[in-house]
Amino acid sequence: YDAVLVATPPMGWMTWNYFGDKINEKDIKEMADAMVSSGMLDAGYHYLMIDDGWQGGRDSKNEMIPDPVKFPSGIKALAAYVHSKGIKLGVYSDAAQLTCGGYTASLNFEEQDAKTFASWDVDYLKYDYCGAPSDSITAKARYKKMADALHNSGREIVFGICEWGDRKPWLWAKNAGGQLWRISADIRDKWKTDKPWTDQRELHTIGAGVLDIVDVNADLAPFAGPGGWNDLDMLVIGLNGRKGPSGDLGGTGCSPTEYQSQMSLWSIMNAPLIATNDLRTMDDATKRILLNKEVIAINQDPLGKQAERKVKNRDWNVFMKPLKNGDYAVAILNRNSSEKAFSIDWKELGLNGSYTINDLWLKKDIGKGKKWAGKLQSHETKLFRLKKVS
Ligand code: DGJ
Repeated sequence: YDAVLVATPPMGWMTWNYFGDKINEKDIKEMADAMVSSGMLDAGYHYLMIDDGWQGGRDSKNEMIPDPVKFPSGIKALAAYVHSKGIKLGVYSDAAQLTCGGYTASLNFEEQDAKTFASWDVDYLKYDYCGAPSDSITAKARYKKMADALHNSGREIVFGICEWGDRKPWLWAKNAGGQLWRISADIRDKWKTDKPWTDQRELHTIGAGVLDIVDVNADLAPFAGPGGWNDLDMLVIGLNGRKGPSGDLGGTGCSPTEYQSQMSLWSIMNAPLIATNDLRTMDDATKRILLNKEVIAINQDPLGKQAERKVKNRDWNVFMKPLKNGDYAVAILNRNSSEKAFSIDWKELGLNGSYTINDLWLKKDIGKGKKWAGKLQSHETKLFRLKKVS
């Protein structure tokens, strides 16, 4: 059943980049209501994930308990509330004694905690790696221990591995029972770093932007597929540079064009689509991006192929992914800080013949033939669906 649960990349909303650990059951219930009223649930975002900061220690039987001030009714009651709306609930823990935020974590309590989460009717676990040894052998063993515990818990719980790509989890995470695995340091609400970097681990200190994570993920297409996905971290769309209760976890913000690019690139790269903006106050510009059904369909295509980067240089990139019905998705990204004209023969992507070009943001056919030429704004990404002309 594991593979079926994540036959396509998971979609949902997560507390972290907006709320940080300043979370409580009232806000989360409001977010569940907003998931429904905003159209997010209808569009496919159906996991609501509580990140770090919900924990309140252990009771006399060593059972994990939620913070009684933040979650006075408990997680089981919250799960019942979100389930009644057709939403699934996620929680968070860590493969050490304490989480990144210094809260109680699950090392040596894997079996017990998995049973506790199952007894609360939890559907998803994000499992972090703060405070744990740096080698990949220990990482794999600790993740496998929790994956096995979840398997034995009697409930289908999606397992998200969060060790930030430092130990190349794309090589081992699936065998350790992971159904998605982060490939980079934490995303911030910004387009890219100010400084050049060579190893993604440097992004922990300088803070990863949208483009930085795309560059980490561009070579990882072979490792993703139905049952296990590269996790590019949350969609920062709609944070708009605003500081939520989390303080500075957002960033300085992206332009509307850059947010649209994140959606295009996360979709074509088969990343889990996990929003973190305040759904209660979403503006129309944010809705237009997060709720574009044709774009989401590229991400959720049943063939489950992550796009490959076919054109790779400092100026522009072209990504391509085959779709189940024989169409192709193509994303064209202008990396420049100014508007620029580009052109491409579909032959350069290995595509022979003529295609109609459907622009998924303009929501219309914009051409037909063996190539495309046009202008892209700074940091814009065009997202096309190509259909062969018979
Ligand atoms: C590090 C993770 O990468 C973040 O997404 C978030 O879960 C924090 N830890 C929570 O402390």
